[in-house]
Amino acid sequence: MTKQLNIGMVGYGFMARAHSNAWANVSHFFETGYKPVLKAAAARNVSKLRHFADMWGYESVETDWKALIERRDIDAIDICVPNDMHAEIAIAAAKAGKMVLCEKPLARTEAEGLPMVEAVEKAGVANMVWYNYRRVPAVMLIKQMVEAGKLGKIFHYRAKFLQDWTISPDVPQGGAATWRLDVDAAGSGVTGDLLAHCLDTAIWINGSISTLTAMTETFIKERKHALTGEVQKVGIDDASAVLTRFQNGSLGTFESTRYARGHKAAYTLEINGEKGSLSWDLHDLNRVQYFNHGVEGAVRGWTNILVTDGDHPYLGKWWVPGLIIGYEHSFTHQVADFLYGLRDGKPAAPTFRDALETNRVCDAILASGKSGAWVTV
Ligand SMILES: NC(=O)c1ccc[n+]([C@@H]2O[C@H](COP(=O)([O-])OP(=O)(O)OC[C@H]3O[C@@H](n4cnc5c(N)ncnc54)[C@H](O)[C@@H]3O)[C@@H](O)[C@H]2O)c1
Repeated sequence: MTKQLNIGMVGYGFMARAHSNAWANVSHFFETGYKPVLKAAAARNVSKLRHFADMWGYESVETDWKALIERRDIDAIDICVPNDMHAEIAIAAAKAGKMVLCEKPLARTEAEGLPMVEAVEKAGVANMVWYNYRRVPAVMLIKQMVEAGKLGKIFHYRAKFLQDWTISPDVPQGGAATWRLDVDAAGSGVTGDLLAHCLDTAIWINGSISTLTAMTETFIKERKHALTGEVQKVGIDDASAVLTRFQNGSLGTFESTRYARGHKAAYTLEINGEKGSLSWDLHDLNRVQYFNHGVEGAVRGWTNILVTDGDHPYLGKWWVPGLIIGYEHSFTHQVADFLYGLRDGKPAAPTFRDALETNRVCDAILASGKSGAWVTV
């Protein structure tokens, strides 16, 4: 029998829309034994909140997230608000016995994230962090190919996440639209916002990072605050470039920036091993590029695999081979895995504890960016 799962959404912004879409459509495609219901959404601006709730079909609204958590008809709290609010909401939700799904990064720092991990584990509630790129079928295929030994011993892991939207010194910091530039709200700049995605995928595919050294830079040192109009020092990292050693002996290079003119959300990764290489580009999200050194020399070369067949991860649940899917599907897949996890009694990754490792690496990057030293993670 299908069970109803009542969702309480906190926020109505970018991620609240991406998640609402996933909760709303997952049971049309995946038979998990659960039917999510968009029960209530919480935010402070009631007119914007009502508009969001109407658009997505939420049954009710709350103007205080605490009231949402107190409601007995809510099973799972989905946290889609700026990073400085994750810990307080997640801990309160866990104490109230709710399942908790939290946007990434789990917290602004590892120290802030640890009590969140302890709270969900103490309460014994299902929990997950939305590192959604794991659930892009092509990225999942790369994980499966590496695990199956297709690359043999791994030598290099290389990833970048590039944007260009903060180059103008006129972009303010703080406030609703630009909280990502305010270190108090975001915790860090591109390291926690963009590189965290690259690090999560890397750790998941290639294992833990043992040591690293980083360069970080804040190109624009002062910006106006969007709410007060006051010119203030900028506390975030605008760019980070990192060298790492993984525990498996491979070397990693990572880069994230909001100053790469022309790039809007350029997440790319490449892995080089003894037997072959694999690469992926978010802007060609359905393809994996594969070089198999085992192929006879005369016809050996980079192959592009269109990841749309029924035997590719998740694709059997969608359309027919050759028909592509998009960014939003990664969230639907993540919801599906969360629900399968509930059904099977197995936590869906990344759990809060899994995601804490990415926070630890981000902290090490920011510390190394300041000191210039190699840091043991
Ligand atoms: N997984 C991903 O790829 C991805 C992408 C974007 C953002 N994120 C993460 O999602 C989270 C939200 O980012 P976003 O892009 O959706 O931000 P956003 O600015 O689009 O939305 C933030 C929401 O938080 C609400 N909010 C702010 N303060 C609040 C309060 N005190 N009470 C209730 N609501 C409040 C705002 O009204 C808004 O609805 C962040 O942690 C971010 O890092 C993840």
